[in-house]
Amino acid sequence: MSHFRGLRTYKIKMPEVIVGAGAAKELGEVAKAFGRRALIVAGRGSLESGRIKAIEDELTRTGVDFIVYSDFDPEPTLGQAEKLAEYLGRVLSREGVEFVVGFGGGSSLDMAKIASLASANPRPVEQYMGIDRVPRKGLPLILIPTTAGSGSEVSKSIVLTRDGIKDSIVSEKVMADLAIVDPVLTITMSPHLTSITGIDALSHAIEAYMSINANAFTDPLALKAISMISANLRRAYSNGGDLDARKSMSEAALLAGLAFSNASNCAGHAAAYAFAAKYGVAHGVACGIALPYVMKFNALAIPERLADVAIAMGVEGEGLSTRELAQLAIAEVIDLLTDLDLPTSLQEIGVPEEDVARLAENMLKMTRLLEVNPRRVGLEEARKIFEVMWHGDIEAKI
Ligand SMILES: [Fe+2]
Repeated sequence: MSHFRGLRTYKIKMPEVIVGAGAAKELGEVAKAFGRRALIVAGRGSLESGRIKAIEDELTRTGVDFIVYSDFDPEPTLGQAEKLAEYLGRVLSREGVEFVVGFGGGSSLDMAKIASLASANPRPVEQYMGIDRVPRKGLPLILIPTTAGSGSEVSKSIVLTRDGIKDSIVSEKVMADLAIVDPVLTITMSPHLTSITGIDALSHAIEAYMSINANAFTDPLALKAISMISANLRRAYSNGGDLDARKSMSEAALLAGLAFSNASNCAGHAAAYAFAAKYGVAHGVACGIALPYVMKFNALAIPERLADVAIAMGVEGEGLSTRELAQLAIAEVIDLLTDLDLPTSLQEIGVPEEDVARLAENMLKMTRLLEVNPRRVGLEEARKIFEVMWHGDIEAKI
């Protein structure tokens, strides 16, 4: 495959999508076409808060029976995925499960993908880590996000923690058949959860736009997501009940999800995956810390792309050079992180400085993401990125 963006062959794949305030109320009717008995995969938080009732009632109303699985933590481990696969093996024929419904944040939707995968492929799940290693598509899958960020509802990836670092299963075989995106479900998110999931979505959009796999389909999705997030994330953060802002954020996360699922994330997620699990940092927080430094690192290779990001973020571009605009895109991201009370350095989250060299080595293991980064990341470059990221010195040369 060519390393030049313009010469690469690409493929676009996405699930059917229903979007809108109150869209979750359509679950009952559409679910009937999928079967009479469902496995709902949802996080413990959705069960404890009673939020899951909304979809349980919908299924009951249309005569669809279900069982619920919630035995996993946010940002699940490979071990928890193996446990779910084992559970699925036990209940699949005994309970007559015909389809899977995932309900919750990205972790719950990813675990629902595991359930579907395990229904048609032998254990262990571990053998499917990597790209295109899943032989068969499993039970039909409906995904209903309750956050606006992960894009998992439309993506072909499942992120799992293994040996302290994040790794992925990437395969069209785990993609949902239907995504139901209802912004009303996101209204109860706390300001902090709103900010970190929103920044995850921004990272997807900007990284997909920087990726060498970016193309004529994913570019407009990424740029639209960037402008919607820039205009609405502060609003959703400061007033969770602002349904207009919530709707825009849900749509933006969806667009960003389609952009990264088809064009891939790049060095930002590679850096975030290298340290998030070890220090117990939420995925969105880690992506937020990494994003501006990776933009700065990539600015040398793709100033015109970052200038586009600045314009999408609302920067007045008249009279400014491409390089000046690229710098302003980075400043805009820092500004947004600051407004959302999120950290902008590794130092702030308590990472010891002496760990930086090892974290850089971890980053290099994320070959899938680094191969599509527009500027080559070797050990020296990864070290430099992590050093500057530790100090939080966005003015430093990377
Ligand atoms: Fe992400």
